[in-house]
Amino acid sequence: MPFPTIAKMTPEEKRLGRFFDRCARKGLMDAFLPEEQTKLRDFLRRWHLRPGDRVLEPGCGAGRLTEILAEAVGPNGEVYACDLSGEMLRRAAQRGLRPPVHLFRGSAAKIERPDAYFDAIICLNVFPHFTNPAPVLVEFARVLKPNGRLYIAHFEGRRQINHFHRHAAPEVAHHLLPAARDMRRLMAKAGLEVTEFMDRSEMYWLAARRLRSRASAGRPCAYPAAIRASGGRCSSAK
Ligand SMILES: C[S@@+](CC[C@H](N)C(=O)[O-])C[C@H]1O[C@@H](n2cnc3c(N)ncnc32)[C@H](O)[C@@H]1O
Repeated sequence: MPFPTIAKMTPEEKRLGRFFDRCARKGLMDAFLPEEQTKLRDFLRRWHLRPGDRVLEPGCGAGRLTEILAEAVGPNGEVYACDLSGEMLRRAAQRGLRPPVHLFRGSAAKIERPDAYFDAIICLNVFPHFTNPAPVLVEFARVLKPNGRLYIAHFEGRRQINHFHRHAAPEVAHHLLPAARDMRRLMAKAGLEVTEFMDRSEMYWLAARRLRSRASAGRPCAYPAAIRASGGRCSSAK
């Protein structure tokens, strides 16, 4: 069954979607590896999801996380999961995902939901693939409720992820996680405040919240002192 395309994808997004179609056919990212499951349990605790929450999962891939999120938010919540790859979404649908999950084919830069709709946005293993992250973050800030949370999580640190992408395939060779200070600037410009940050070889973690008023976007950012003190390398602050 084809998935509704919620917004016109750019030629670059279509190309990337075809690349991830091929990954899906190879069964990549179909299930979490045992060592990833331990980290995932930690992430789940840190995401603080509650029954009834509305969660956006951009780049949901084959839905291995989607079903876990659906369980966390329960029947009164919502998981809006989107992806560029129809083949990934087909595999996600085969899991028998039903409401509160909504699967859509389209870009994270155009989310078909009203302003201030989501309690949380969870980007697992996807942020480096946003080749133009600024408009994506502006869209995230638009659909987040005031104080709503954005999480960016990976099972490895920035250095390991960027090394992997540089050598994995030409299609993703330039899909890199920005340096901490660039990430901070991007977030602040979109009206998001970084509240937690950790970059270790075994895990990358960033939490941000939507500032109460998006009018504050572009003002000097409120990057936590603990991160500044560490030079943005490896710390955690709340
Ligand atoms: C590395 S996979 C991770 C999938 C999933 N998050 C997981 O961990 O199993 C990245 C996914 O993000 C999707 N993606 C990349 N850029 C995207 C964008 N701009 N909008 C929506 N999805 C995107 C890809 O199609 C791919 O399925």
